[in-house]
Amino acid sequence: MDAIKDAVSSTLEKLNLTGGQGVPAKEPTEEQLNELKSKYAKAGQEQVFAFYDKLSSAEKAGLYEQLENFNPDYINEITDRALNPPQTESTESKIEPLPENATSSVLDSSAEDLQKWYDSGLELIAENKVAVVLMAGGQGTRLGSSDPKGCFNIGLPSSKSLFQLQGERIAKAEKLAKKKHGKEGVTIPWYVMTSGPTRAPTQKFFEEKNYFGLKKENVIIFEQGVLPCISNEGKILLESKSKVAVAPDGNGGLYQALINAGVVSDMGQRGIKHIHAYCVDNCLVKVADPAFIGFSAAKNVDIATKVVRKRDAKESVGLILQKNGRPDVVEYSEISTEDAEAKESSGLLKFRAANIVNHYYSYEFLESIPEWAKKLPHHVARKKIPYVNTETGETVKPEKPNGIKLEQFVFDCFPFLPLDKFACMEVKREDEFSPLKNASGEDSPQSSKKDIMAQGKKWVEVAGATVVSENPEEGVEVSPLISYGGEGLDFVKNTTITAPAVIENEP
Ligand code: UTP
Repeated sequence: MDAIKDAVSSTLEKLNLTGGQGVPAKEPTEEQLNELKSKYAKAGQEQVFAFYDKLSSAEKAGLYEQLENFNPDYINEITDRALNPPQTESTESKIEPLPENATSSVLDSSAEDLQKWYDSGLELIAENKVAVVLMAGGQGTRLGSSDPKGCFNIGLPSSKSLFQLQGERIAKAEKLAKKKHGKEGVTIPWYVMTSGPTRAPTQKFFEEKNYFGLKKENVIIFEQGVLPCISNEGKILLESKSKVAVAPDGNGGLYQALINAGVVSDMGQRGIKHIHAYCVDNCLVKVADPAFIGFSAAKNVDIATKVVRKRDAKESVGLILQKNGRPDVVEYSEISTEDAEAKESSGLLKFRAANIVNHYYSYEFLESIPEWAKKLPHHVARKKIPYVNTETGETVKPEKPNGIKLEQFVFDCFPFLPLDKFACMEVKREDEFSPLKNASGEDSPQSSKKDIMAQGKKWVEVAGATVVSENPEEGVEVSPLISYGGEGLDFVKNTTITAPAVIENEP
């Protein structure tokens, strides 16, 4: 009986016909319906009711519920602002690299400083003050997999998914803190942000994989918001006769979701003070990196970012810098050639801090989200959005972009901070950044695999092993459960490893 109930409620959920907690939504009364219709009509968005009268009772209930959750005036307002952003920017905007006291680089920091940050970060982990937030709500359209990106198998000998690599790094960081400080019960809660399209498959994957050995109660899967997709003419599009076309509200939807889903209050109850947030697509990400946590805590900032060195003046990356005296990110398309090519006397690019969306937040900063979340702008992404023509009833699959998705960016809150509350840490690209964006070529499963295997090979060689292989490109996969960042590999000293290989267990 329960199985039948589950099946029914899961089908209803997929059809978006439930009212929140798995309860089927109820058809509205005539009065409720008229009220909502007039709200949409006043906003010039009455087309969303074009097929309402012909829908089944359950479909009516579902559509009503979906529409009730949006405010059409607000949708019009943010669409208009996104399409016609206020012209406060001017040629006068002044960009400069961040001040030196706000930046550090693992490339030239002293071993002593690095050790100090690592040790203090590990101590904060041992005190259960550190949490991790994963942004995994994107639809991964360029990769083109039907599963969420985190489930993707990048072809490692172990076949581990991105989620698994990241979950195991959390488990290892907990273990390292436990060992160093002789504490039991060390926990790094992992808050996983999903979206409408990724939530159910993410949840299922985590359950099937037994939360990668982490305790279920410390893995909190939550959902970001969605916004309607809008036609080029400013009209809300329907995906079907009974459903509005929606898309996740961008990785900047993180902030509102952290509040709405109760994540910030959960962190408060657990006594969390320091948060590491990152993107699912980076196979090399050092999740809950003690050195980064220690660095950020020592600087006493609200936000810190990890960056990698921009490869050359032409690389298309966003840059972390100060603009008009505030921390900011400038996209590669927004920077002049002169600034892009400017060099310091050392010969390094003046603006070289490439954004990898890898952040530290203080708990106090996340607590302040309600004070500023509404100020985050929306950006326009022009997309091909399948829709139902509300005049003919026909479903259209456009060949070229026919509408927009509205997205917030996670870094748009940086300028809300004064410079002394923001810091930046440069890390080595080959150690920490290899994003999975495309199905092949650059930033693909092949490059992700290659970077993990190259890193493992380097680690075992530094630990004293000799790696042999027919193909010098082959590497060694080292399980995160064995080594978090190259430590603890003494057991491979004086051994010969034939690549490709995987080190999954200590002898
Ligand atoms: P991208 O902008 O690269 O998007 O996301 P994507 O979904 O991975 O791929 P494309 O552009 O559709 O091909 C960068 C990070 O932000 C997260 C993604 O999951 C990824 O970790 N993200 C993006 C969200 O969490 N929510 C969103 O609405 C968008």
